[in-house]
Amino acid sequence: MPVIAFANSKGGSGKTTSALLIACELAEKTAVTIIDADPRHPVSKWATPKEGKTPPPKNLTVVRNAGEQTIIEEIEAAAARDPFVIVDLEGVGSKLNAYAMSQADLVVIPMKEQQQDAEAALDTIREVTNVSKVRRAELPFSILFTQTKPVAKSRTARFIASQFRDNPRIDTFNVELHERDAFSAIYTMGGSVRALDPAQTNGIDRAIENITGVVAELVAKLRANAGAAQDDKKGRAA
Ligand SMILES: Nc1ncnc2c1ncn2[C@@H]1O[C@H](COP(=O)(O)OP(=O)(O)OP(=O)(O)O)[C@@H](O)[C@H]1O
Ligand SMILES: [Mg+2]
Repeated sequence: MPVIAFANSKGGSGKTTSALLIACELAEKTAVTIIDADPRHPVSKWATPKEGKTPPPKNLTVVRNAGEQTIIEEIEAAAARDPFVIVDLEGVGSKLNAYAMSQADLVVIPMKEQQQDAEAALDTIREVTNVSKVRRAELPFSILFTQTKPVAKSRTARFIASQFRDNPRIDTFNVELHERDAFSAIYTMGGSVRALDPAQTNGIDRAIENITGVVAELVAKLRANAGAAQDDKKGRAA
């Protein structure tokens, strides 16, 4: 049921990669739909069968969005069918993105620890706030740092991350999605990180551990938000 949209108006901030990795990991246990709502359709390209390429996990349905007019229906249909719906958005502010976010339970904002990504993440937070106002219900969001170095972070990277982590009005994932070959290899090899061949790609175990940590935190956030929404409803009814 929960709909999780991945948004950041900066190109290359890691939206598609984190959306795909999370969708595949969730699909290990349950049915998931990923809606490919970027007009360049990177998720559909990843899923397109090709000789020597691994197909998507069997529990994962890929829906290729047909445009802003159908996005809400596509999300509704997927949410009625599957326990998780992931929406990959393009790196611009658009009506399509606003419509998709209006249907979301959580917006994940992936960003690199870089100035331009940080500025775009702040713009995206403003968009999320506007969507909350339009739908008259708070739309939770969380920053996910992506393509980070597991060790020996630069001072700039630490400074940028701390500006978000230390801001009480901005929720952040504690777990970061590290920069790993295994995470970009899925585009060439198809399938999930778990399906990669250890003879061809390094660090698969660490990559799986990393993505498992991100998914555990995501699920905890969804549970906490659902609990808070219930309390809010009860409070208003009392
Ligand atoms: N955690 C990661 N580890 C290694 N490579 C990564 C990681 N995240 C992203 N990349 C690589 O960085 C590039 C950009 O990432 P991605 O396509 O996920 O960004 P995006 O925000 O979806 O971009 P766009 O706005 O163009 O849709 C891709 O080539 C991808 O392979
Ligand atoms: Mg993308």
